[in-house]
Amino acid sequence: MRNTPLYSSLRAFADTQPLRMHMPGHHGKPLHMPELERFSELDFTELPPTGNLFSPGGAIEAAEDLWARAFGMSACLFLTGGSTQGIHAALTLACRPGDRLLMDRGCHRSVYHAMALLDLKPIYLSRPWRREDGVSGPISPQSVEKLLKSHPKCKTVCITSPTYYGVLSDIPAISHIVHQYGGILVVDGAHGAHLPFLGLDAFRGADLTVVSAHKTLPVPGQTALLFSGGLFHGDDLRRAGAIYGSSSPSYPMMAAMDVARAWLEEKGADDYRTTAAFVSDLRRTFSALRETPELRLDPARFVLNTPDGYVRKAALETLGVYPEMADCGHIVCILTCADRRAEFARLIEALNRTAPPAGTAARQIPPPPELPERVLSPRQAMFAPVDVLSLQKAEGQISVDQVAPYPPGVPIIAPGERIGKKHLSYLSEIGYNMTEKVRTLSHRV
Ligand SMILES: Cc1ncc(COP(=O)(O)O)c(C=O)c1O
Repeated sequence: MRNTPLYSSLRAFADTQPLRMHMPGHHGKPLHMPELERFSELDFTELPPTGNLFSPGGAIEAAEDLWARAFGMSACLFLTGGSTQGIHAALTLACRPGDRLLMDRGCHRSVYHAMALLDLKPIYLSRPWRREDGVSGPISPQSVEKLLKSHPKCKTVCITSPTYYGVLSDIPAISHIVHQYGGILVVDGAHGAHLPFLGLDAFRGADLTVVSAHKTLPVPGQTALLFSGGLFHGDDLRRAGAIYGSSSPSYPMMAAMDVARAWLEEKGADDYRTTAAFVSDLRRTFSALRETPELRLDPARFVLNTPDGYVRKAALETLGVYPEMADCGHIVCILTCADRRAEFARLIEALNRTAPPAGTAARQIPPPPELPERVLSPRQAMFAPVDVLSLQKAEGQISVDQVAPYPPGVPIIAPGERIGKKHLSYLSEIGYNMTEKVRTLSHRV
């Protein structure tokens, strides 16, 4: 494969058979685990020939620049701590401690954790409930504008796109509005690392974008990337990434991202397009979440509508087919360029074999209730002493966790909010496990 600056330089250095008097302790010798035997060869530490993730220059930055170019961005930082690390770094760059944050209420818990670390005060953007699909729709540019207008001090906006269900928001249009108000747009694109390779304009205009390479590309777990659209420089990304990342980032993980990008550019994007075409056929064959002019979807994500997703998922698992996620009305399958004809055939067969009896009514999923009363900031709540209660006994208590069932994939209760009767009734109605434990503000303080 051509054009893999990091992988090629590590390979060339390993081939010189250096005497490794440094970390990691395996010194390049085979690991005592057959599956990982050769992993150690490229598992280096910071040395003059291998470079340093958190210093500019060298093969690592060359490899990051190629990723930035593939995404149409100005700078990129490799992450070995998942999108979680990237989200923390991005919000550290975009906000000052104590700032207000206009955020998609459906953001991942890493955003809630960043709010606690940085003492950010959330203003929540809600998503329209799509009754017919039983999922939350995209964030509208109008809703972003309305809240920016009414909260002029709020300068950072954080949105998840695509969602777990593959719902895309119009990031170019939203970024236009955010910039008109002098703000910074952070996009959590954890589920969308493949989208630019499919030719989608998924992140244009975002000031900071985070993607989990490991979720949808052929790379190891925890690999992820942070991009700047131009406002921040490579040095900014490195500085913020280093706060939350290990000072011993994994070279094999970084090299795997280098090679994956080169492979996607040479061949993998075609494989991904084949997968997207297959998903498009699946959506026509089975009852599934489908694109409409108001609902743009990740072309590779397959969301099956089914009367009881948990039962169907269990049935699929007895056939050896493991979906990503189930809820009371859907099953979410992540299909990638790794899936070929044999996997497609196996999935179709399993879906046919587990089909519910004809005429089984689809479950109507109720819309989420209104937001609970907010009592504490996320920081006050998340760093407070806690009691642990089952949800069914937690009415009236202040939650320090988010309780975020799928659907809607949006916290029904967020940190610092009071757990109300109607929130508990909703959770019970959608089949949430009410014996599940929730951490609440301790009365012993
Ligand atoms: C929307 C979203 N953002 C961020 C993350 C965190 O990603 P990672 O597991 O790569 O740290 C996840 C993980 O599932 C996610 O779903």
